[in-house]
Amino acid sequence: MTLEAIDVHHGYGTETVFEGVSLSVSPGEVVAIIGPSGVGKSTLLRLLALFDAPNRGSIEYENQAVWDVSEQRRLEYRRRIGMVFQEASLFDASVRRNAEYGLRVRRSWTDRLRHELSSLVGKTNGTGDAIDALETVGLREQADQDASSLSGGEAQRVAFARALAYEPDILLLDEPTSDLDPRNTAVIEDAILEARRRGIGVVIATHDMHQAERIADRVAVLLGNDIIEVGNTETVFENPTDERTRKFIEGELIY
Ligand SMILES: Nc1ncnc2c1ncn2[C@@H]1O[C@H](COP(=O)(O)OP(=O)(O)OP(=O)(O)O)[C@@H](O)[C@H]1O
Ligand SMILES: [Mg+2]
Repeated sequence: MTLEAIDVHHGYGTETVFEGVSLSVSPGEVVAIIGPSGVGKSTLLRLLALFDAPNRGSIEYENQAVWDVSEQRRLEYRRRIGMVFQEASLFDASVRRNAEYGLRVRRSWTDRLRHELSSLVGKTNGTGDAIDALETVGLREQADQDASSLSGGEAQRVAFARALAYEPDILLLDEPTSDLDPRNTAVIEDAILEARRRGIGVVIATHDMHQAERIADRVAVLLGNDIIEVGNTETVFENPTDERTRKFIEGELIY
Protein backbone atom coordinates (compact mmCIF):
# COMPACT_ATOMS: atom_id res chain seq x y z
CA MET A 1 0.00 0.00 0.00
CA THR A 2 2.87 2.33 -0.75
CA LEU A 3 1.97 5.58 -2.49
CA GLU A 4 4.76 7.12 -4.46
CA ALA A 5 5.58 10.14 -6.62
CA ILE A 6 8.39 9.24 -9.01
CA ASP A 7 10.46 11.85 -10.85
CA VAL A 8 7.54 14.23 -11.05
CA HIS A 9 7.77 17.38 -13.18
CA HIS A 10 4.90 19.76 -12.75
CA GLY A 11 3.89 23.37 -13.08
CA TYR A 12 1.12 25.79 -13.90
CA GLY A 13 1.20 27.49 -17.29
CA THR A 14 4.78 28.56 -17.81
CA GLU A 15 5.62 28.40 -14.11
CA THR A 16 7.68 25.36 -13.05
CA VAL A 17 6.93 23.99 -9.60
CA PHE A 18 8.67 20.58 -9.66
CA GLU A 19 11.64 19.33 -11.60
CA GLY A 20 12.02 15.67 -10.74
CA VAL A 21 10.41 15.27 -7.33
CA SER A 22 10.18 11.78 -5.78
CA LEU A 23 8.55 10.88 -2.48
CA SER A 24 6.94 7.76 -1.04
CA VAL A 25 4.79 6.91 1.97
CA SER A 26 4.34 3.41 3.35
CA PRO A 27 1.78 1.98 5.79
CA GLY A 28 2.32 3.05 9.37
CA GLU A 29 4.71 5.92 8.78
CA VAL A 30 4.34 9.68 9.04
CA VAL A 31 6.17 11.73 6.42
CA ALA A 32 6.37 15.50 6.86
CA ILE A 33 6.89 17.88 3.94
CA ILE A 34 8.52 21.14 4.99
CA GLY A 35 9.52 24.09 2.85
CA PRO A 36 8.83 27.78 2.33
CA SER A 37 5.44 29.17 1.37
CA GLY A 38 4.67 28.77 -2.31
CA VAL A 39 7.27 26.04 -2.88
CA GLY A 40 4.66 23.41 -3.81
CA LYS A 41 3.69 21.46 -0.67
CA SER A 42 -0.04 21.63 -1.45
CA THR A 43 0.66 20.89 -5.11
CA LEU A 44 2.54 17.73 -4.16
CA LEU A 45 -0.30 16.59 -1.87
CA ARG A 46 -2.83 17.18 -4.64
CA LEU A 47 -0.75 15.03 -6.97
CA LEU A 48 -0.49 12.30 -4.31
CA ALA A 49 -4.27 12.55 -3.77
CA LEU A 50 -4.71 11.83 -7.51
CA PHE A 51 -6.62 15.07 -8.05
CA ASP A 52 -4.21 16.24 -10.73
CA ALA A 53 -1.98 14.28 -13.10
CA PRO A 54 1.66 15.34 -13.13
CA ASN A 55 2.93 16.89 -16.35
CA ARG A 56 5.72 14.29 -16.38
CA GLY A 57 6.75 11.40 -14.14
CA SER A 58 4.36 9.07 -12.38
CA ILE A 59 2.29 8.53 -9.29
CA GLU A 60 2.19 4.89 -8.24
CA TYR A 61 0.00 3.04 -5.77
CA GLU A 62 1.21 -0.44 -4.90
CA ASN A 63 3.66 -0.13 -7.80
CA GLN A 64 0.87 0.58 -10.28
CA ALA A 65 1.05 3.85 -12.23
CA VAL A 66 -2.35 5.32 -11.41
CA TRP A 67 -2.65 7.53 -14.48
CA ASP A 68 -2.12 4.53 -16.78
CA VAL A 69 -5.21 2.69 -15.58
CA SER A 70 -8.90 3.19 -16.32
CA GLU A 71 -10.82 6.02 -14.70
CA GLN A 72 -12.82 3.44 -12.77
CA ARG A 73 -9.70 1.81 -11.36
CA ARG A 74 -8.18 5.20 -10.48
CA LEU A 75 -11.34 6.09 -8.58
CA GLU A 76 -10.85 2.97 -6.49
CA TYR A 77 -7.32 4.10 -5.63
CA ARG A 78 -8.58 7.57 -4.85
CA ARG A 79 -11.09 6.15 -2.42
CA ARG A 80 -8.29 4.66 -0.38
CA ILE A 81 -6.70 8.07 0.08
CA GLY A 82 -8.08 10.63 2.53
CA MET A 83 -7.15 14.29 2.19
CA VAL A 84 -7.59 17.24 4.49
CA PHE A 85 -7.22 20.50 2.60
CA GLN A 86 -5.41 23.59 3.78
CA GLU A 87 -8.73 25.45 3.82
CA ALA A 88 -11.34 23.31 5.57
CA SER A 89 -14.28 23.05 3.19
CA LEU A 90 -17.43 21.93 4.93
CA PHE A 91 -20.94 21.61 3.55
CA ASP A 92 -23.83 23.70 4.71
CA ALA A 93 -25.16 20.92 6.95
CA SER A 94 -24.68 19.64 10.47
CA VAL A 95 -21.27 18.79 11.87
CA ARG A 96 -22.35 15.14 12.05
CA ARG A 97 -23.34 15.02 8.38
CA ASN A 98 -20.04 16.60 7.44
CA ALA A 99 -18.14 13.99 9.43
CA GLU A 100 -20.18 11.21 7.82
CA TYR A 101 -19.67 12.38 4.30
CA GLY A 102 -16.51 10.46 3.40
CA LEU A 103 -17.99 7.42 5.01
CA ARG A 104 -21.09 7.56 2.86
CA VAL A 105 -18.91 7.77 -0.24
CA ARG A 106 -16.96 4.80 0.98
CA ARG A 107 -20.07 2.84 1.85
CA SER A 108 -21.61 3.20 -1.56
CA TRP A 109 -18.43 1.64 -2.79
CA THR A 110 -18.41 -1.16 -0.20
CA ASP A 111 -22.08 -1.81 -0.93
CA ARG A 112 -21.05 -2.87 -4.37
CA LEU A 113 -18.32 -5.08 -3.00
CA ARG A 114 -20.69 -6.64 -0.50
CA HIS A 115 -22.46 -8.41 -3.32
CA GLU A 116 -19.21 -9.87 -4.51
CA LEU A 117 -17.35 -10.66 -1.32
CA SER A 118 -19.24 -10.10 1.92
CA SER A 119 -16.19 -10.69 4.10
CA LEU A 120 -14.59 -7.54 2.72
CA VAL A 121 -17.16 -5.33 4.39
CA GLY A 122 -15.95 -4.37 7.84
CA LYS A 123 -18.07 -1.45 8.93
CA THR A 124 -21.83 -1.32 8.90
CA ASN A 125 -22.66 1.49 11.31
CA GLY A 126 -21.30 4.58 9.62
CA THR A 127 -22.79 7.10 12.02
CA GLY A 128 -21.03 5.50 14.96
CA ASP A 129 -17.69 5.89 13.23
CA ALA A 130 -18.35 9.55 12.44
CA ILE A 131 -19.27 10.19 16.06
CA ASP A 132 -16.13 8.36 17.18
CA ALA A 133 -14.08 10.55 14.89
CA LEU A 134 -15.78 13.69 16.24
CA GLU A 135 -15.06 12.46 19.75
CA THR A 136 -11.40 12.06 18.80
CA VAL A 137 -11.18 15.72 17.79
CA GLY A 138 -13.18 16.88 20.82
CA LEU A 139 -16.33 17.91 18.90
CA ARG A 140 -18.84 15.23 19.85
CA GLU A 141 -21.02 17.81 21.60
CA GLN A 142 -21.26 19.90 18.44
CA ALA A 143 -22.44 17.00 16.23
CA ASP A 144 -25.85 18.55 15.60
CA GLN A 145 -24.64 22.13 15.22
CA ASP A 146 -24.56 23.75 11.76
CA ALA A 147 -21.10 23.45 10.26
CA SER A 148 -21.38 27.04 9.05
CA SER A 149 -21.48 28.23 12.66
CA LEU A 150 -18.14 26.68 13.59
CA SER A 151 -14.97 28.64 14.26
CA GLY A 152 -12.06 28.24 11.83
CA GLY A 153 -10.28 25.86 14.19
CA GLU A 154 -13.42 23.79 14.80
CA ALA A 155 -14.05 23.53 11.05
CA GLN A 156 -10.48 22.36 10.61
CA ARG A 157 -11.04 19.65 13.21
CA VAL A 158 -14.29 18.50 11.55
CA ALA A 159 -12.46 18.21 8.22
CA PHE A 160 -9.87 16.07 9.98
CA ALA A 161 -12.60 13.92 11.62
CA ARG A 162 -14.18 13.40 8.21
CA ALA A 163 -10.92 12.06 6.80
CA LEU A 164 -10.42 9.86 9.86
CA ALA A 165 -13.96 8.41 9.77
CA TYR A 166 -13.28 7.41 6.20
CA GLU A 167 -10.59 4.98 7.40
CA PRO A 168 -8.26 5.55 4.47
CA ASP A 169 -5.08 3.59 3.80
CA ILE A 170 -3.26 6.86 3.20
CA LEU A 171 -3.99 10.18 4.89
CA LEU A 172 -2.76 13.41 3.30
CA LEU A 173 -2.87 16.45 5.59
CA ASP A 174 -2.27 19.97 4.38
CA GLU A 175 -1.44 22.19 7.37
CA PRO A 176 -4.05 20.44 9.52
CA THR A 177 -3.30 22.48 12.65
CA SER A 178 -2.61 25.95 11.19
CA ASP A 179 -5.72 27.43 12.86
CA LEU A 180 -5.45 25.55 16.13
CA ASP A 181 -4.30 26.44 19.63
CA PRO A 182 -1.65 24.26 21.33
CA ARG A 183 -4.20 22.07 23.09
CA ASN A 184 -6.14 21.23 19.91
CA THR A 185 -2.91 20.88 17.96
CA ALA A 186 -1.93 18.19 20.47
CA VAL A 187 -5.33 16.50 19.98
CA ILE A 188 -4.77 16.33 16.21
CA GLU A 189 -1.18 15.18 16.60
CA ASP A 190 -2.33 12.37 18.91
CA ALA A 191 -4.94 11.37 16.33
CA ILE A 192 -2.26 11.31 13.63
CA LEU A 193 -0.09 9.04 15.77
CA GLU A 194 -3.11 6.80 16.43
CA ALA A 195 -3.73 6.62 12.67
CA ARG A 196 -0.11 5.58 12.26
CA ARG A 197 -0.55 2.86 14.89
CA ARG A 198 -3.48 1.55 12.86
CA GLY A 199 -1.16 1.20 9.89
CA ILE A 200 -2.25 4.27 7.95
CA GLY A 201 0.49 6.02 5.96
CA VAL A 202 0.37 9.76 6.67
CA VAL A 203 1.86 12.66 4.69
CA ILE A 204 1.63 16.05 6.37
CA ALA A 205 2.61 19.43 4.93
CA THR A 206 3.49 21.76 7.77
CA HIS A 207 5.14 25.09 8.50
CA ASP A 208 5.61 23.99 12.07
CA MET A 209 9.12 22.54 12.38
CA HIS A 210 8.46 21.39 15.92
CA GLN A 211 5.40 19.52 14.73
CA ALA A 212 7.47 17.75 12.09
CA GLU A 213 10.04 16.91 14.74
CA ARG A 214 7.36 15.63 17.14
CA ILE A 215 5.37 13.35 14.87
CA ALA A 216 7.24 12.55 11.64
CA ASP A 217 9.27 9.41 11.01
CA ARG A 218 10.74 10.98 7.89
CA VAL A 219 11.03 14.55 6.68
CA ALA A 220 11.20 15.82 3.10
CA VAL A 221 12.60 19.30 2.53
CA LEU A 222 11.11 21.00 -0.52
CA LEU A 223 13.19 23.90 -1.77
CA GLY A 224 13.40 25.52 -5.20
CA ASN A 225 11.88 22.95 -7.56
CA ASP A 226 13.09 19.84 -5.78
CA ILE A 227 13.10 17.82 -2.62
CA ILE A 228 16.64 18.67 -1.60
CA GLU A 229 16.74 16.23 1.28
CA VAL A 230 14.58 13.41 2.60
CA GLY A 231 15.38 11.17 5.52
CA ASN A 232 14.97 10.15 9.10
CA THR A 233 13.54 13.07 11.10
CA GLU A 234 16.32 13.22 13.64
CA THR A 235 18.99 13.16 10.95
CA VAL A 236 17.34 15.91 8.90
CA PHE A 237 17.00 18.17 11.93
CA GLU A 238 20.21 17.35 13.76
CA ASN A 239 22.60 16.44 11.02
CA PRO A 240 21.32 17.39 7.55
CA THR A 241 23.38 16.50 4.50
CA ASP A 242 22.39 19.67 2.64
CA GLU A 243 23.55 23.00 4.06
CA ARG A 244 20.36 24.65 2.77
CA THR A 245 18.29 22.36 5.02
CA ARG A 246 20.09 23.63 8.11
CA LYS A 247 19.65 27.23 6.98
CA PHE A 248 15.97 26.74 6.25
CA ILE A 249 15.32 25.04 9.61
CA GLU A 250 17.20 27.74 11.46
CA GLY A 251 15.28 30.44 9.61
CA GLU A 252 18.36 31.86 7.89
CA LEU A 253 17.16 31.02 4.42
CA ILE A 254 14.70 33.69 3.44
CA TYR A 255 12.65 33.29 0.25
N1 LIG B 1 -4.17 26.27 -9.58
C1 LIG B 1 -3.04 26.97 -9.70
N2 LIG B 1 -2.82 27.75 -10.78
C2 LIG B 1 -1.67 28.46 -10.93
N3 LIG B 1 -0.68 28.45 -10.05
C3 LIG B 1 -0.83 27.69 -8.94
C4 LIG B 1 -2.01 26.91 -8.72
N4 LIG B 1 -1.87 26.27 -7.55
C5 LIG B 1 -0.65 26.63 -7.07
N5 LIG B 1 -0.03 27.47 -7.91
C6 LIG B 1 1.31 28.05 -7.72
O1 LIG B 1 2.22 26.96 -7.52
C7 LIG B 1 3.16 27.27 -6.52
C8 LIG B 1 3.07 26.26 -5.40
O2 LIG B 1 1.87 26.45 -4.69
P1 LIG B 1 1.45 25.58 -3.43
O3 LIG B 1 0.11 26.02 -3.01
O4 LIG B 1 1.64 24.15 -3.77
O5 LIG B 1 2.57 26.03 -2.36
P2 LIG B 1 2.69 25.67 -0.81
O6 LIG B 1 4.08 25.17 -0.59
O7 LIG B 1 1.58 24.77 -0.42
O8 LIG B 1 2.53 27.10 -0.12
P3 LIG B 1 1.95 27.47 1.34
O9 LIG B 1 3.02 27.06 2.31
O10 LIG B 1 1.78 28.95 1.29
O11 LIG B 1 0.68 26.72 1.54
C9 LIG B 1 2.87 28.69 -6.09
O12 LIG B 1 3.73 29.55 -6.79
C10 LIG B 1 1.43 28.91 -6.48
O13 LIG B 1 1.18 30.24 -6.76
MG1 LIG C 1 0.01 25.00 0.84
